[in-house]
Amino acid sequence: MKGKWRQNLHIEPPEGWMNDPNGLCFFDGLYHVYFQYSPGTPCGESNRCWGHYVSPDLLSWKYSGIVLEPDIPEDRDGVFSGSAVAFEDHMEFFYTGNVLEEGDFDHILEGRGANVIRVRSSDGSKMSAKEVLLRNTDYPDFCSCHVRDPKVWLEDGKYKMVLGARTKDDHGCVLFYEASLDGPFEYKGLLTVPDFGYMWECPDAFSIDGKKFIALCPQGTARGDLKFQNIFHSGYFRDDDGVLTDFEEFDHGFDFYAPQTFAAPDGRRLLIGWMGIGDDSYTNPTTDLGWQHCLTLPRELTLGSDGKILQNPVRELDSIRKQAEKIDGETWQGLPFEVNAACFSDVVSVSISGAEITWNRNDGILSLHFTNEEGYGRKERKIELLSLDSLRIIADVSSLEIYINGGRYVMSTRFYPEHRQVRVAVKGAGAGIAALRLNDTLVAIGEALIDFIPDKKGCEFYEVGSFSPAAGGAPANVCGAFSKLGGRSRMITQLGRDPFGDIITRTLDNAGVDTSCILYTSEANTALAFVSQTTDGKSTYSFYRNPSADMLFDPSHITAEMFDDCYALHFCSVSLGNFPMKDAHRAAVTIARRQGAIISFDPNLRFMLWDDRDELKRVIWEFIPCCDIIKVSDEELEFITGSSDPDEAVPTLLCGNVKLVILTKGKDGASCYSASGNVSSLSPVVKAVDTTGAGDGFIGSFLWKLRSSGIVRDDLSGCPLSVLSGCLDFANRFSAISVQRKGAIPSYPGLSELNN
Ligand code: FRU
Repeated sequence: MKGKWRQNLHIEPPEGWMNDPNGLCFFDGLYHVYFQYSPGTPCGESNRCWGHYVSPDLLSWKYSGIVLEPDIPEDRDGVFSGSAVAFEDHMEFFYTGNVLEEGDFDHILEGRGANVIRVRSSDGSKMSAKEVLLRNTDYPDFCSCHVRDPKVWLEDGKYKMVLGARTKDDHGCVLFYEASLDGPFEYKGLLTVPDFGYMWECPDAFSIDGKKFIALCPQGTARGDLKFQNIFHSGYFRDDDGVLTDFEEFDHGFDFYAPQTFAAPDGRRLLIGWMGIGDDSYTNPTTDLGWQHCLTLPRELTLGSDGKILQNPVRELDSIRKQAEKIDGETWQGLPFEVNAACFSDVVSVSISGAEITWNRNDGILSLHFTNEEGYGRKERKIELLSLDSLRIIADVSSLEIYINGGRYVMSTRFYPEHRQVRVAVKGAGAGIAALRLNDTLVAIGEALIDFIPDKKGCEFYEVGSFSPAAGGAPANVCGAFSKLGGRSRMITQLGRDPFGDIITRTLDNAGVDTSCILYTSEANTALAFVSQTTDGKSTYSFYRNPSADMLFDPSHITAEMFDDCYALHFCSVSLGNFPMKDAHRAAVTIARRQGAIISFDPNLRFMLWDDRDELKRVIWEFIPCCDIIKVSDEELEFITGSSDPDEAVPTLLCGNVKLVILTKGKDGASCYSASGNVSSLSPVVKAVDTTGAGDGFIGSFLWKLRSSGIVRDDLSGCPLSVLSGCLDFANRFSAISVQRKGAIPSYPGLSELNN
């Protein structure tokens, strides 16, 4: 199951490998997070690029593609870590261009290029030409070839920059640079500390409440039992007018490295780290599923009364916390959730699935350890803690972040529970638990079937020689479209225990659709549909559904958990005949509506499945008023409403709960009608090769765009027409690409293709 262990609240790569967060900033109304990305290689073997996520609210993140790749001699072996400076009208990015020369080099003292490179962008995606600012020859003589990770900021009208470096005699250090806005970067000095590692990576410099801090990631410091427990470390010095305090680690868990800070528009100092680490003994089973690692939640940094930094999850997270309940000893809870514990006893323990946090006043040690294999090689991390007042634990699908004593200490770890429902037990503390729900998943219910595509078109059914199988079914296609764009989707259906059922599961898995709610039965086969098409466009269908597995889906299998994270529920009319699946639809609509989801209905008429057309019409009108969005094609309008004139027909559809009507008009584009007016959008002119699944791709991509525009159900009636027209444009472009290729799901583009 490809969707297993995908996080709900954390940024992770669409696939492939992720490491350091880069270029963190707020620009043009959005938070931007770039990251070290090796697409296609879950263990990071390929050269690093920068991937890009954006968010309006630090909660829901949208992947928007690769923005920087190695393509000049000065960065040919990797676009390494770096930072961003946001100006009024543009952003500037500074990164390390990594070069590994071929030959007999140690790549430390010789044979490695480390160039500081700048690019500009006015939208965060399209980058200017690359400008090399500093090369190895520009760094001070004492530097080895390891100089990297520029962190740049503006201060007193100047650029200031720190770089991490290794000296020729193996000491880690930070180099300081300055530049006027139009001048070259000049070296201003260094910071180093005796016996503190051979290399310092990813430096940062910032202030909190007037106190200055220098953060860095030393490599080569000795590992200890209560400190520096990982292979590499990450932390900070406070700089009191040139006098450095002791080095304080940012995080004491198994998975944390290479953090970066930036300023939010309201002045908060925020930190995001890589929730991963290189070269340690423990593993992540997601590598078998095609990706690895994630970033931490964004954390707010404040100054503690002891002058140390306090870290806490950004307050935005509070807005998605659901009703808290007291934990009485133990409980079961679906991930993601949050546990808050006020600790009052001399012995405290909190366990979440196989992870256990214990504290004992006697020995003054807080320990995070695994009691089973969910840690995948992670054993124990400890800190010395004389008093324990509070614990706040954010548990996502495959990670824990433990904030101790108001954020004075943090422990982050990945863990991989088999199930989303996990046991939580608390001793020695008064604790509450609350679901954290980011409603971002498109759930579709109904038929998933095999379409048999004729190898020959322009002929009668009996003239077709052979048919090729392709996974389809409108609700399944809609999921495919949503997930290919990087969204989360879940399919609810039943398949036969047969090889056709396997093809469907496989196709959906590969598109990133969550298939964990698909049932399998031996009582009926997976539905099949053979189709032929004459030159004048007449299609003949032959369905094998007498009955098929999907029709027999038993409504008792519909559970509230299926809709826990539901943004919208989508369905069609094919599954609304007189069989159990219809009642499953009724149950799904009721629960999803109760949970606040948008209900979306595309009647998608298939007359040949109905003996009685009046019954079809009756059932469509039974469901319409329960929905928020109705999508119809111009060809369906008359059958459903009695009129083919949109001015007459659409108002009858805007009844009950319906807030949006989307009318698709084939190559003439689409219109959207709401109480605040209507908008239309033309479709790009393209040569259609195969329109299979085009309408499903349209509504799937429309819903995806609606969600990424931040529109939830309560916003629908007052949704600005400009947003709706943006969604129509997006869906039209999506469908225009899809019809130029064969098949449904395989023809759908991803976001980066669409943006180009
Ligand atoms: C830290 C680091 C950086 C480098 C980047 C390469 O994890 O080694 O120093 O720029 O990763 O991906």
